[in-house]
Amino acid sequence: MPDHPTRDDIDLVSGAFWGRNPHDAFTWMRANAPVYWDGQAWGIARYADLKAISKDPATFSNARGIRADADAIPMMIDMDDPEHLRRRKLINKGFTPARVREREDEVRQVCDQIIDRVAERGECDFVWDIAAPLPLIMIGNDLGVAPEDRNQLLTWSDAMLTALTGDPDSIGPATEAFIGYTEYAGGVIADRKAEPRDDLMSVLCHAEVDGDVLSHDELVHESLLILIGGDETTRHVISGGAWQLLADRRQWDLLAADPAKLTVGIEEMLRWVTPIKNMNRTATRDVVVGDQQIREGDNVLLLYPSANRDEDVFDDPFRFDVERTPNDHVAFGFGTHFCLGNSLARLELRVMFEQLLARLPDLELVSPEEPAYRAANFVSGYESMPVRFSPVAPAGA
Ligand code: HEM
Repeated sequence: MPDHPTRDDIDLVSGAFWGRNPHDAFTWMRANAPVYWDGQAWGIARYADLKAISKDPATFSNARGIRADADAIPMMIDMDDPEHLRRRKLINKGFTPARVREREDEVRQVCDQIIDRVAERGECDFVWDIAAPLPLIMIGNDLGVAPEDRNQLLTWSDAMLTALTGDPDSIGPATEAFIGYTEYAGGVIADRKAEPRDDLMSVLCHAEVDGDVLSHDELVHESLLILIGGDETTRHVISGGAWQLLADRRQWDLLAADPAKLTVGIEEMLRWVTPIKNMNRTATRDVVVGDQQIREGDNVLLLYPSANRDEDVFDDPFRFDVERTPNDHVAFGFGTHFCLGNSLARLELRVMFEQLLARLPDLELVSPEEPAYRAANFVSGYESMPVRFSPVAPAGA
């Protein structure tokens, strides 16, 4: 039995817990049991503890996997240094600040095409018509996926992400998806090795650090991590951020009056939405965190959404404020596994909202009710969000 008060509704590894707004439980945990044993894992609710653990990979290892209820996969996020660092240095060749900056025009074009597809209709489902396509198209372009194969990529990505939640029924579809993706990526890798193009897969196929290169299997697994890591996460911040702006129209108007404020505004969307709900670490030795004794081999879950509402760090943390500074959130994690795609995600968020504010200025929610969340214990966000606006001509017309 844990040496702290407990609540029946706290089950940190279940999809149902994350399928509703969990903040009431987190507020209680931070005050009463900030290092919380739920029967399968220790939940780390406070910002300071989460950062301290993230800075100590020797004690809190990734090597047994980032999920408390699923096995490790041979990708760098499920590894410790030095192997993690070796791979990260190679993959980083595709994520240099210059390479990301160069993509701004491409991102803007993709955003315009997405908005064009609904512009004359005056209504759409914001999640599926606006938020989901941007990261999918960007990652598809990165990984050399032909436009007609993007839906297939989305199906694979969904199936594999669902399997990371430990649902036994998802294993079959995820295995099929993995086989499908491996075959597809194999073709792209062979092609880019022979004839490099201007895409991430070509950079990764030819990346070299001190004579070291990525093997074929490493290329398949790391490109898969990029797909899983960058698709739904960015989608949920676009839709969750938009909901907050539209539910409190003053926030939308502030950004519309001065879109330069978006650089600060998207950080608040990231803090607020925090689409990666938790990451698991495994204790490599007995260790005390807060006033709790953690044993070697225990699962330790970093609760990012809770840390991002910690009242010791954020002034009035339940106020969504697009002008919030400082805003040292941990939506991208912290420490050695800090999100490799953070600059790309930030670019996509900023440019999408610039285009939405400029092109659909009277965008509004069809319903004032907060949309339902998908019940997933790892990455989750809105399922659907109907919106309307005055029809406009496509930019490309
Ligand atoms: C809003 C969007 C995103 C959020 C909130 C997010 C969040 C995160 C978080 C929390 C981690 C783990 C950090 C840790 O364990 O300390 C992570 C790692 C990672 N992310 Fe992201 N991510 C986003 C977008 C992306 C994109 C667009 C890509 C790639 C195109 C990406 C690629 C990765 C990779 C490769 C890692 C593993 C890094 C490592 O193990 O060293 N992410 N991300």
